Amino acid sequence: IDPRNYDDLLSVVASIREQVGSEIAQADIGIICGSGLGPIGDTVENATILPFSKIPGFPATHVVGHKGNLVFGTLGGKKVVCLQGRFHPYEHNMDLALCTLPVRVMHLLGIKIMIVSNAAGGINTVLHHGDLMLIKDHIFLPALAGFSPLVGCNDPRFGARFVSVHDAYDKQLRQLSIDVGRKRGMTLYEGVYVMSGGPQYESPAEVSLFKTVGADALGMSTCHEVTVARQCGIKVLGFSLITNIANLDADQSVEVSHEEVLDIAKQAGERASLFVADIITEISL
Ligand code: 6GU
Repeated sequence: IDPRNYDDLLSVVASIREQVGSEIAQADIGIICGSGLGPIGDTVENATILPFSKIPGFPATHVVGHKGNLVFGTLGGKKVVCLQGRFHPYEHNMDLALCTLPVRVMHLLGIKIMIVSNAAGGINTVLHHGDLMLIKDHIFLPALAGFSPLVGCNDPRFGARFVSVHDAYDKQLRQLSIDVGRKRGMTLYEGVYVMSGGPQYESPAEVSLFKTVGADALGMSTCHEVTVARQCGIKVLGFSLITNIANLDADQSVEVSHEEVLDIAKQAGERASLFVADIITEISL
């Protein structure tokens, strides 16, 4: 399977339809459950679960704490498909087209809206452990250095060669999220997410660099998926779950541990998942 080849993608979708049935293999909303929204996949009603290992072309997932399933069902009265687990570029030799294969698959399964989440380090001091940040814009650092999922041959059936990302994170969906949050007594901070290549966490000097250029939170995913979604016209809503505070000072820095990130993601993820289910209820398609 070549993730840039539209006909190959059609064959992947055909295989999914064959395995779960074409009634089930369609959805209006796609959800990428990163570390922040892991539990949401488990709350899907009438779930049909297809492991990534049964989907042609999907690579294996290795990151501890991430499952690898496609989950079809309903949530908040909408037909959804969840990716339980995602592909990080650092796991797959920076093959970003491969890492975004599931986004193109969800597009061909009919989604019009994609909700993405990630675990991120807070840079802006208004952010605290366990906070949910609404993503307003991003800095896709790998893409600025040539690691874009859109590099290479482009089949126009996926969309434009030169994709505009001026409105990557849908304004109406952001406003809806703020409104739903307000009803739940949550104040959502809207900020800029920066994606670094990872897998190492950033040095204090690197965090300072990102702070200087206006980033509020820092992670290793999401931007590649959002870019591909925008190419095929999917509206995007994104959240960062702040699992730790990024180190800005080399003299006072504390080690970031993946266990800590997973631990906070688990606790706050439950709350975040309920919130996102509320948002989905309120979305009018
Ligand atoms: Cl501090 N950096 C990155 N790149 N990803 C993270 C993180 C930090 N904390 C959670 N995920």
